Amino acid sequence: MTAPLDNFSYQNPKNSKKGFLHAENVSIAKLAEKHGTPLYVYSEKGFLEPFKALKRALKPIPHTICFAVKSNSNPKVLALLKQAGAGMDLVSGGELYLARRVKCPGNKIVFSGVGKTEREMKEALAYQQGKGIFSFNVESVEELNLLNSVARAKKTKAPVALRFNPDVDAKTHPYISTGLKKNKFGLERSEVFELAKNIPSNIQLKGLSIHIGSQILDLSALEEAFLKLKEVVAELNRFLKTPISFVDLGGGIGITYKDEVPPKIEDYGALIVKHFSGTGLRILIEPGRTIAGNAGVLITKTLFRKSRDEKDFLVVDAAMNDLMRPSLYQGYHAIIPVEQELANRGDEVNSDVVGPVCESADCLGANRALSKSISSGDLLAILSAGAYGFSMAGTYNSRPKPAEVMVKGSTSRLIRKRETYQDLP
Ligand code: LLP
Repeated sequence: MTAPLDNFSYQNPKNSKKGFLHAENVSIAKLAEKHGTPLYVYSEKGFLEPFKALKRALKPIPHTICFAVKSNSNPKVLALLKQAGAGMDLVSGGELYLARRVKCPGNKIVFSGVGKTEREMKEALAYQQGKGIFSFNVESVEELNLLNSVARAKKTKAPVALRFNPDVDAKTHPYISTGLKKNKFGLERSEVFELAKNIPSNIQLKGLSIHIGSQILDLSALEEAFLKLKEVVAELNRFLKTPISFVDLGGGIGITYKDEVPPKIEDYGALIVKHFSGTGLRILIEPGRTIAGNAGVLITKTLFRKSRDEKDFLVVDAAMNDLMRPSLYQGYHAIIPVEQELANRGDEVNSDVVGPVCESADCLGANRALSKSISSGDLLAILSAGAYGFSMAGTYNSRPKPAEVMVKGSTSRLIRKRETYQDLP
């Protein structure tokens, strides 16, 4: 089983009997020839289709979809989604800078994260000639106090949502589970009330936010969090002079990497509509993976084969620095040959696809059934790499970061140049 290949499919180029993997209508083999490898290749439709599906699903209620910039922060991706109507969920001053570069309207921006600095707060309050952003999602008493003093110095009020930690198990990988009491994120229920009763003078309490984790496959965990959130909103509204006007429900739902069956976007939207229509609340969501995950692949070239008794190693030119998910979370990414013939030969051997980095953890895919005919120079596609792929890339082992290409229909454009050695120091 592999990820759905909606916008990535094998096609035969004109006058060719051989099939090659295409992104929309562009041959990935050609892109690799032109831009080299490792290479991230994205499909515009890959981003837009899930984004539009989310929009349709939330249509019955007032909402803003704030794309989680951390999942894919390429400015061209951000511009594409902004153009389609997305706002942005930011977690750093760097991401605020990117939002400014693509002119994201401030009233569609939320600033999340447990550790905002004074400088980041100042910059966000000053966004778009001082119009500022829609909300700071505040996670601690000390953060609220610092934000208050920064706002006071600027003679303004900072719009705030308190991030409530609902103590719900999202049943996902522990590293990306965030809604349990033991996690560093958010405020406990009692803290939310304490803060709401003593809101400092330069803070405007507008909303509440939650985010229980990423790659969520079970809507019941989200529903449990929604119920707890609604209960807190109702309780707060009993004493607040200005009632809560919005809730931010955090990141989106999981995707298929291998054989996971994620909830349908329509059902996720329907659950939100069921719980929040008629409440008068604006709904914000901060999806990253749902939109970007299956919009991109990482293309790598085979360097060498090493045969061992129990398995073969395919040493490729991409590594853990280019795509960190397999080494960091044992994340599964399907790996398929770019040349169709190599995908259907029936001579598969058990193979580990490994990179050149000097760590045993540098394995992009373990125990994969891959043709023994794959040899030096053959291209492989690592699927579902659109979210938390390039955005988590680094230069460990002094490896320049890969290039990124965006495909639309039959056209492609380079949206980030490959780094060079000169970029390393
Ligand atoms: N909002 C907040 C406050 C978040 O912390 C996150 C993700 C999101 C939204 C977006 O979540 P999504 O819709 O993508 O599930 N690097 C990990 C994922 C880390 C997620 C961190 N927070 C991975 O590659 O699986």
